[in-house]
Amino acid sequence: MKYYFAPVQGHTDAAYRQVHSEIYGNNTEYFTPFLRLEKDELRKKDLKDAQAALVPEPSTLPQVIFRDFNELSKLVNILKDSGHGRININMGCPFPLQTARGRGAATIARKECVDAVADVISKNPDILFSVKMRLGFKDENEWRYLIDVLNSLTLDHVAVHPRIATDQYSGELRLHQFRELLNVSSNPIVYNGEIRTPEDASQVMREFPEIAGIMIGRGVLGRPSLITECIEGAEWDATRRKEMMLRFHDALFNVYQDTLIGGDHQILSKIQPFWEYAEGEIGRKAYKAIHKASNMAKYETAVAMI
Ligand SMILES: Cc1cc2nc3c(=O)[nH]c(=O)nc-3n(C[C@H](O)[C@H](O)[C@H](O)COP(=O)(O)O)c2cc1C
Repeated sequence: MKYYFAPVQGHTDAAYRQVHSEIYGNNTEYFTPFLRLEKDELRKKDLKDAQAALVPEPSTLPQVIFRDFNELSKLVNILKDSGHGRININMGCPFPLQTARGRGAATIARKECVDAVADVISKNPDILFSVKMRLGFKDENEWRYLIDVLNSLTLDHVAVHPRIATDQYSGELRLHQFRELLNVSSNPIVYNGEIRTPEDASQVMREFPEIAGIMIGRGVLGRPSLITECIEGAEWDATRRKEMMLRFHDALFNVYQDTLIGGDHQILSKIQPFWEYAEGEIGRKAYKAIHKASNMAKYETAVAMI
């Protein structure tokens, strides 16, 4: 079983991925948060992240978000020219800012977007593509045409979050549709959604033994040892998890302090989200204090409560 650390905008930047892989072992594949075009170019920040993804350790796939053939082929060419041989295509992002512009989950049900994906992939046989998708934008049956088209291509994998865009990131998972999709896909399918413990991962593997992998986002952000625990097949106890998470935090905090030039405010705004999904691991008191900390001294006092 292969494990993937899902891209999460605002969390899994290059520094985070690098330090995570150093602390927990290079046992997973990472993704950049989605890269998009702005005025026909990659944004500076995105370009930096894409360049960091070229370093072989940790193994990182650049992810692109697009709305039509032109955007997708331009992004693919930029990445190809800078040396990338693998590209992940985002067809699942539910953020209204993206879907209103026809990107992310808005591409699933639009035939011209699906055909554009097939076209770009066919024109770039030297690139290994993968797709990250939801079941649909407004309807859970929308995936059918897309999967039909993807079946005519050879992809590294297709990662599926079994929800539709209007579900955002909560609500019942639509597993009956996932089952159907898994039955008809000729490409390897990676399951993604709501894995918080090693037992959750085992349950998914029992229910869907044909999957090629499991992708985890918020579960690893809140419990960064989760993928390592799944691979080892044994849960770490709470003390070990907390100790390692603090070590991870301290190392990342150091990187931000050494590299960010915008002062304490900027450093705080980068490091506070580190704990966003970790209330279960660090307890309510420390969690709330971290969230409320308005300066560095208060932040450090809050972290010391863990
Ligand atoms: C704040 C936030 C930002 C995200 N950014 C991205 C992104 O850039 N690209 C992407 O494919 N998915 C993105 N996702 C979706 C996650 O990769 C993942 O599919 C989703 O959180 C479900 O998996 P999980 O339940 O394991 O977290 C984001 C999710 C959240 C909550």
